[in-house]
Amino acid sequence: MCGIVGYIGTQAATDILISGLERLEYRGYDSAGIATVEEGQVNCVKAKGKLFNLREKLEHTINHAQIGIGHTRWATHGKPEEHNAHPHLNTDRRLAVVQNGIIENYLELKEELISKKIEFRSETDTEVIPHLITQFLTDSNSLMTAIQKTIARLEGAFAIAVVHADNPYELIVARQQAPLVLGFGQGEFFCASDMTAILPHTRTILNLENGEIARLTPLGVEIYDFEGARMSRFPRTLDWNPVQVEKQGFRHYMLKEIYEQPAVVRTCLDTYINPNWHADENPDYSPVNLGLTPNLTDNLEHIQVLACGTSWHAALIGKYLLEQVAGIPTTVDYASEFRYSPKPIISNTLTIGVTQSGETADTIAALESERARRADLEPKFQAKLLAITNRAESSIAQICDRIIDTHAGIEIGVAATKTFVAQTMGFYFLSLDLAYRRQSVPNYKIGEIIAGLRHIPSQIETILDTQADAIEELAHDFTTEIEDFIFIGRGINFPIALEGALKLKEISYIHAEAYPAGEMKHGPIALLDNKVPVVAVAMPGSVYDKVISNAQEAKARDARLIGVTTAMNATEAAHTFDDILTVPEVDELISPILAVVPLQMLSYHIAAIKGLDVDQPRNLAKSVTVE
Ligand code: F6R
Repeated sequence: MCGIVGYIGTQAATDILISGLERLEYRGYDSAGIATVEEGQVNCVKAKGKLFNLREKLEHTINHAQIGIGHTRWATHGKPEEHNAHPHLNTDRRLAVVQNGIIENYLELKEELISKKIEFRSETDTEVIPHLITQFLTDSNSLMTAIQKTIARLEGAFAIAVVHADNPYELIVARQQAPLVLGFGQGEFFCASDMTAILPHTRTILNLENGEIARLTPLGVEIYDFEGARMSRFPRTLDWNPVQVEKQGFRHYMLKEIYEQPAVVRTCLDTYINPNWHADENPDYSPVNLGLTPNLTDNLEHIQVLACGTSWHAALIGKYLLEQVAGIPTTVDYASEFRYSPKPIISNTLTIGVTQSGETADTIAALESERARRADLEPKFQAKLLAITNRAESSIAQICDRIIDTHAGIEIGVAATKTFVAQTMGFYFLSLDLAYRRQSVPNYKIGEIIAGLRHIPSQIETILDTQADAIEELAHDFTTEIEDFIFIGRGINFPIALEGALKLKEISYIHAEAYPAGEMKHGPIALLDNKVPVVAVAMPGSVYDKVISNAQEAKARDARLIGVTTAMNATEAAHTFDDILTVPEVDELISPILAVVPLQMLSYHIAAIKGLDVDQPRNLAKSVTVE
């Protein structure tokens, strides 16, 4: 987590750093700080809390520096206090460092430095870095060499940026398993944890790779490996548009992103569904163009999916589809658990990492460990790694054999919405591709599923057009007094109950739990009374009657019942539920993508009415790059 940004060029660095931090604030917002170099001095300003505190501090300062670094923090080592905010300085305050990641051996390094009479000003792991660089600078005059020697002492995953008062034309950055992108302008260069920070200035970017160190000067960028060998790398031009990262009139990014979902699904369909494929023509090619090679798809005996948070919920829907449509036994694990308790090795296994950011440390490490533990085994046990991600240029894309790019566009709200829907689409496509290749269901069934998917964009639009006001009104009932919610669902919609509960807790801070509806009577039903609303995802299909019965059981315990269902069952639903969030008629297999939308809206409105920071909920960060 944390966001770092750096600038060297001809403009005033402070404004560029602050606007960059604004775009990185989703990565952490416990504190922020910048350090610039001007007239032989490092000028460092930091503030606890969100960026506006730093802005306020900078308001009456005049700073013409043309080089600087900035940081927005998600606290790991040391409380979110100003003295722990980055940048961290060396003893004579002439060298400043920002870091994203964790220096795992910092305690050992700190003790070593303390034994040399170095005084520390913070409790962070990062502060060892400026002191170590300074130690190595006494042996060599080269900042680059001193940083290289320092990096050789660091263990962990990190990205750093360094400036020095004696080197006003040099900004040095390095990357070891934490994201860092370089931006190329005219006589000016940028670095940042995420390209969104530099998009307003340039669309020419280069992703630094693990083990690389770059020297940015007003004349250009030089890249070396950690041993000092010069690397030859070429930037590329993005087709992203800076407007995509504006709110465009919406009150919050999350709301804008909910409303972008129809367009996201359309893009997914246009990108991956083969328009010429017709089930009744017995086509000899797949209905889905995922570009998967036979070595990834043939003879699969098992699929294992690794993910965290909302991506894990998409993976659970994926499991349902891969088993029920493609007929392949599938397991889903939290990446953070899988890392330390990997499952027995099965031959011909496809391992899928799901991550919108492509940078989640646990997911990346779980995939890497899977590759490593299979590396020396015979071919049928070798790792086949596939990523479903919204960031084609991210770390996960670099370690996997292939990616399914979800094309959702950048998501700024910390609570995932459109990327969840896009990941779920990715699983529909994968299941259909595998189902076709294995002929696990007849072509006409594949055709029916595709036809159903094609209706999704307009059906989401219908929900947004017809339900928004009612959902906002309903949300008012839960903004005071209610402290707990229960979500229930079954089958393919149990993950939607999980996702509804996660959205509610992360942005409204209301405690919420999700259970498979049939599990309520095995314990959780004891929680119910008239102060605990129950949301039942009751989409018509194989388990509809069961969910309705489970909902009735909750109602008998005085719970206020909110149903997510279709108009088809209006009479029965009206009889069962106190409040109904209506979605269009849809086949059960496709229903999760519709059912999630009213739950996203409900959480959004509860949090917005409570006046909470919807886009940057407390304690969270968008990109979880620490373990
Ligand atoms: C919840 C949310 C998180 C992420 C999780 C994994 O709204 O956004 O639970 O889903 O941190 O992130 P990615 O998908 O980037 O791996």
